[in-house]
Amino acid sequence: MSKKKIAVLTGAGVSAESGLGTFRDNDGLWAKYDPMEVASIDGYYRNRELVLGFYNMRRKELALAKPNSAHRDIAALEEGNIVTVITQNVDNLHERAGSTRVVHLHGELTKVRPETGVYDDTFSEKEVIDVRYEEVNLGDKAPNGSQLRPHIVFFGEAVPMIDRAIDVISECDVLLIVGTSLQVYPAAGLYRYARADTPVYVIDPKDIPIRGGNIHHIRATATEGMKEFIHIIDTL
Ligand code: OAD
Repeated sequence: MSKKKIAVLTGAGVSAESGLGTFRDNDGLWAKYDPMEVASIDGYYRNRELVLGFYNMRRKELALAKPNSAHRDIAALEEGNIVTVITQNVDNLHERAGSTRVVHLHGELTKVRPETGVYDDTFSEKEVIDVRYEEVNLGDKAPNGSQLRPHIVFFGEAVPMIDRAIDVISECDVLLIVGTSLQVYPAAGLYRYARADTPVYVIDPKDIPIRGGNIHHIRATATEGMKEFIHIIDTL
């Protein structure tokens, strides 16, 4: 049997059962923080200390979190299939669960890079520094002398990995979407790049904002839904 190409698009819901909060649920991060203050490029340059502190806090939470069975079941899909995970999450729980091909659309919490300028979001991969779970504060400088900033795609910045994500989704045989409200573009529009005959499975306990002939909603949490999906994939 030939290997299936599976694209897996994930959002905060896949990490919710690991104890990391989502953004738009009632108790989510955006109920406590204003995303324009802590997650936008203008907010960053208005108050770097606040934004660096927000990401230090999230890095600390991530150090204590562990992958859950949904992350592990997604990683296990690699047995016999070609799997690429495209995640909006900035955590590293997919990698820690064993996924080997992970595209981070919105950056990575454990990495930082030098600032370039307010409306200049270009950077070289060579400048990206892995700080694991360490704090990064105002005054912490890159080797080139500029302030270190989170390696995060802020609102107002381009999404450098979007072309790679489009390629993966337009070539996949099955698209699995787990735990995302599909409110943030361009990630929210990615499913439209799947071929018309590609089955799309969505795991989310809430209603999903997408419709189509080949879209199947598994109304469940990520861990429960993945248990169902690993049986479904064998039948496709
Ligand atoms: P949201 O908080 O917008 O959506 C989380 C989704 O997960 C919702 O559809 C929930 O119903 C679902 N959910 C909650 N608990 C779940 C569980 N246990 N299992 C499965 N699903 C569950 O998070 P995202 O869609 O990931 O970007 O948000 C997208 C982007 O918005 C984030 O990457 C972040 C945020 O602003 C940036 O900061 C750039």
